[in-house]
Amino acid sequence: MKLWITGSKGMLGKDLCAMAKKNFELFESDKEVDITDETAVSGYISENKPDFIINCAAYTAVDNAETEAELNRKLNAVGPEILGKCSAKKGTRIIHISTDYVLSGAAPKPLTEAAPIKPINAYGKAKAEGEAMLAKANPNHWIVRTAWLYGINGKNFVKSMLNLMRTKEQISVVGDQLGNPTWTCDLAAAILKIAENPKLPGIYHFTGEGIASWHEFAVEIQKQALGKNLLEHAIPILPIASSEWKSPAKRPLWSALDKTKIKENFDIHIPAWQDSLSKYLDFEK
Ligand SMILES: NC(=O)c1ccc[n+]([C@@H]2O[C@H](COP(=O)([O-])OP(=O)(O)OC[C@H]3O[C@@H](n4cnc5c(N)ncnc54)[C@H](OP(=O)(O)O)[C@@H]3O)[C@@H](O)[C@H]2O)c1
Repeated sequence: MKLWITGSKGMLGKDLCAMAKKNFELFESDKEVDITDETAVSGYISENKPDFIINCAAYTAVDNAETEAELNRKLNAVGPEILGKCSAKKGTRIIHISTDYVLSGAAPKPLTEAAPIKPINAYGKAKAEGEAMLAKANPNHWIVRTAWLYGINGKNFVKSMLNLMRTKEQISVVGDQLGNPTWTCDLAAAILKIAENPKLPGIYHFTGEGIASWHEFAVEIQKQALGKNLLEHAIPILPIASSEWKSPAKRPLWSALDKTKIKENFDIHIPAWQDSLSKYLDFEK
């Protein structure tokens, strides 16, 4: 089976390409095939005839999205629509990656795929628009919403925390936002399970198993990093409220996702987020 992975140089894209190479004929591209250029996308599909497109290209700077409205919408809404239209014309299936930020709910119930679309920041709004336009353009779609992603090939919370823990005497981390930390390699494996056995198109949620606040996530990072000798000593990690952390984009206080649908339909076992963090930190060594 032939896969075309877009955003191949991004945090998820790189891990996904490395994994996909083992079992699929792989076509990979990043900015050189602009997903917002219909002619380029259509030409690439005609030339390479992929069975599946997996779209990992996106605009992911959540705070900058508040002011870079045009770029955010172009990448996160128009690009998916173009990929949807072009893939539909050629009968190509498509997996698209989306985000928990299209939703916002109230604790303590993990959000299912049926939860109402309720983005509270510009990035979430554009991603929600992208989901809708892609779904309308190509019924043969699998939209995989994920959250709190970290991977070896990109800027992420784990790397930022490790840097701060090495250079600061104490840090403050938001303690009242809850979600699901997710390792790119776990997500990549789930995406490839869909590609291997494409059935039941629609929206799916995938994150690491278990819920944490950013503060709890940071505490676990420090604990594990000390155990693996990635840090020399512990520093105090203080929980603060979201209201004390000034950032341009609002984030939902509760965005834990329910993964029952993907687990049941694709026979996927999702590791506890702490176990995946441990595997990831072994790459940081
Ligand atoms: N990171 C998270 O915490 C998180 C959470 C939930 C959902 N997601 C979703 O997961 C997916 C992957 O995220 P990620 O963190 O791996 O993203 P990423 O690291 O930002 O990767 C996106 C890639 O797309 C490239 N790109 C930018 N403009 C493009 C264009 N016009 N055409 C083709 N490629 C282009 C980017 O290049 P440049 O870097 O040079 O711009 C980058 O290599 C995205 O859909 C994102 O919305 C991420």
